[in-house]
Amino acid sequence: MLNEKNVCLGKVRSSIRELFEYGKARKAEIGEDKVFDFSIGNPSVPAPREVNDTIAEILKTYDPVQLHGYTSAQGDYSVRKVLSDYINTRFGTTLNADCLYMTCGAAASLTITLNAILNNGDEVITFAPYFPEYKVFTEHAGGKLIAVDCEEDTFRLDFCKLESSLTAHTKAVIINSPNNPSGVVYSEEDILKLSETLEKYSAKYGNTIYLIADEPYRELVFDKSVKVPYIMNYYSDSIVCYSYSKSLSLPGERIGYIAVNDKMQNFSDVYAGVCGAGRALGFVCAPNLFQQLIKKVYNVTSDISIYKKNRDKLYNALTEYGFKVVKPDGAFYMFVKSPEQDAKAFCERAKNYELLIVAGDDFGCKGYVRISYCVSPEMIERALPAFKKLAESYA
Ligand SMILES: Cc1ncc(COP(=O)(O)O)c(C=O)c1O
Repeated sequence: MLNEKNVCLGKVRSSIRELFEYGKARKAEIGEDKVFDFSIGNPSVPAPREVNDTIAEILKTYDPVQLHGYTSAQGDYSVRKVLSDYINTRFGTTLNADCLYMTCGAAASLTITLNAILNNGDEVITFAPYFPEYKVFTEHAGGKLIAVDCEEDTFRLDFCKLESSLTAHTKAVIINSPNNPSGVVYSEEDILKLSETLEKYSAKYGNTIYLIADEPYRELVFDKSVKVPYIMNYYSDSIVCYSYSKSLSLPGERIGYIAVNDKMQNFSDVYAGVCGAGRALGFVCAPNLFQQLIKKVYNVTSDISIYKKNRDKLYNALTEYGFKVVKPDGAFYMFVKSPEQDAKAFCERAKNYELLIVAGDDFGCKGYVRISYCVSPEMIERALPAFKKLAESYA
């Protein structure tokens, strides 16, 4: 008898992947430029030149046996040292190399963190809309994901709903800001209030509630006035799950890290739990070529001006056509209110105009759709008449 849960997971493709595959088939049928695929969050701008140049230099100058060999499970010490120094300079923290654990991207950071802290039956709260894999990762680690709706129309945190969801079984809260799929950045006021709330309920139940920040989009913020608060400065029992997939356009290379707050009470056990979970999950170590790359390009970001241009173009057009949209401050997603109650029906109708968009139901939020605008500006230009016709079809 196989593990039914995993067999099932392997057989059921996510509806985002399903739509992406549909898009590929449709493009083959009617032509690449006739299909407007806004389904998937694959960065559309190339990795910065520094990335390829640095990889070439590393390949030329490093000892190949060492370069392609194992590193320590936590990651190369010198890489972690550079990164912890950089985080301290940037955010005023006091981390050292042994607060960091190099991973194969945010997905690995999250699965390792959840496996490190969860026992069977523990609850993990997140805010809807949320990245659908949180449920898979949490359940695989023995936990139960509890989704708390954000405030409607603004997608800010709803503290009344949060308080009514916190229980003696709550072990962690996951936040993701800038958010996939809403593009919303949680304000400092919200992070302060969240920290106070978690402190209050940790004390009330006598259990630590960990705050996990899932941060693949930290660097993708379009206006200087928008700040993404660093959770370690607000809440001691916090863990950052970082990734370079989106900031350096390297999603296929799998590199990121976990940073455990040195201020937390049981730091050494939590960090040991991270190392243990990484070991039990068989990660061994993050790819060394990319660890060495990050050591040199830790403060470089892809050209996000293209995403900003896409956001502005799409936001202005969609609002002009009558769609209701929260203007995203970051990431590369837009969450649009469906003109009909059933967002899946709206997505089906959009297909008639060759527009591929994803129902919010998949992100725990009915009545909305996600548009991934990590596409070429030309495709957005070509897609606008289709969005206009789609809007008119509801007039
Ligand atoms: C919110 C969120 N978290 C985590 C991930 C996983 O990212 P990575 O490629 O770094 O594993 C994604 C990927 O799209 C994401 O959107």
